[in-house]
Amino acid sequence: MLFTQKLFNLSDFKKELKSTFFKKAKTNLFSNIKSKSYGFINDLYEKKINDIYFYAKKIKKSENVIFLGTGGSSLGGKTLVSINSNFFKNKNKPQIFFLENIDEVSINGLLDQLNMDKTSIVIISKSGETMETLAQFFLIKKKISKTKNYKKRIFVITEKKKSTLKKIQEEEDYFFIEHNDSVGGRYSVFSVVGLLPAAISSFDIKNFVEGGKNFLKFMSNEKNFDSFFHSSLAIILSQNKGINISVIMPYIDNLNNLSFWYKQLWAESIGKKKMGITPVNSLGTVDQHSQLQLFLDGPRDKFFTIIGRKKNKQQKILDCRYGENKKLDILHKKSLEILLRAELEATIETLVNKKLPLRFFELDLLNEECIGSLMMYFIIETIFCCYLIDVNPFDQPAVEEGKILTKKKLEII
Ligand code: PA5
Repeated sequence: MLFTQKLFNLSDFKKELKSTFFKKAKTNLFSNIKSKSYGFINDLYEKKINDIYFYAKKIKKSENVIFLGTGGSSLGGKTLVSINSNFFKNKNKPQIFFLENIDEVSINGLLDQLNMDKTSIVIISKSGETMETLAQFFLIKKKISKTKNYKKRIFVITEKKKSTLKKIQEEEDYFFIEHNDSVGGRYSVFSVVGLLPAAISSFDIKNFVEGGKNFLKFMSNEKNFDSFFHSSLAIILSQNKGINISVIMPYIDNLNNLSFWYKQLWAESIGKKKMGITPVNSLGTVDQHSQLQLFLDGPRDKFFTIIGRKKNKQQKILDCRYGENKKLDILHKKSLEILLRAELEATIETLVNKKLPLRFFELDLLNEECIGSLMMYFIIETIFCCYLIDVNPFDQPAVEEGKILTKKKLEII
């Protein structure tokens, strides 16, 4: 495995690994994997990579690409692109933008800066009915349709079924890329939804998918499963001790969007029947100067997931001499990487000393394979935790009311 997990203050839950409660959820998970019930896992073995590269190549001819979509239709791709953009050798030709919201001030602000002749648009909506995404499209259509051959630069990812977006795509003759109907939005990072934006940014999607598969292989060994999912069980059981918030805190800038992806995956899956644990995202070291005081000394209602990487070898050594013969000794000949690591370790130690429950994931390398394994771990953990509390990981019934009400309000305006 390309990352390790260390647990702190969780020993109370060790014996529960033998409980029928844990075993039942595990049997449920494994029998669903065996019977190929999870679309997002079956999708890993589909030969789709070449098709994705085919569309990525077309889109890469543009200077800019704007992805329209929200929730599961944007967060996975956005995470992969942001992991890639600063860290790997970036042959990132087009500038990539994700429009998730419907604030026309910010959208127009972006559109005003872009040459629409050299811009491609990818509209992603599994249902093909999401109002926000459709509205964004019509706002942009007005601008892009004034440019030459614009239809060759509009791509639609949606299910192959009757929907508003599918109808628009057919009538207007835009490119159609099928959204696998058995893959839910927030579980779609390993499908075309996550992989197309990633491929455009030259992220190695083959290795990413391999990383996902490798994690599944690793966890199929019962010992590995129990050691990795001990912390998942602890998150659920620690609710009995008043824990109802799960904080995810990477000490890696490129993983900041991963926290947003995780937050949506977890919240929309587990928050049901008056149960669930609220996810909160945080970024080290920045939030040491914001949330950490509360984490350490506020209500003892949080479980912590800290993510760090092994030391980056290409660190820049600081020369902290200044003025005449003066220097800042404590930092001189150290690096930001050394400081980052010291702060990460100090945060872990202070949380542990306060007897707060914590797990620390350490990534060997911030590469595609490792990220694939980590994201697959979080996906499986989410489903497994839903089984532990007996809720359906794949639906989101409570948000439907708001969608219906929005439509009603639009009709009377
Ligand atoms: O994870 C989910 O199912 C949701 O967050 C959806 O991704 C989100 O509501 C967008 O839906 P759609 O892809 O149908 O536009």
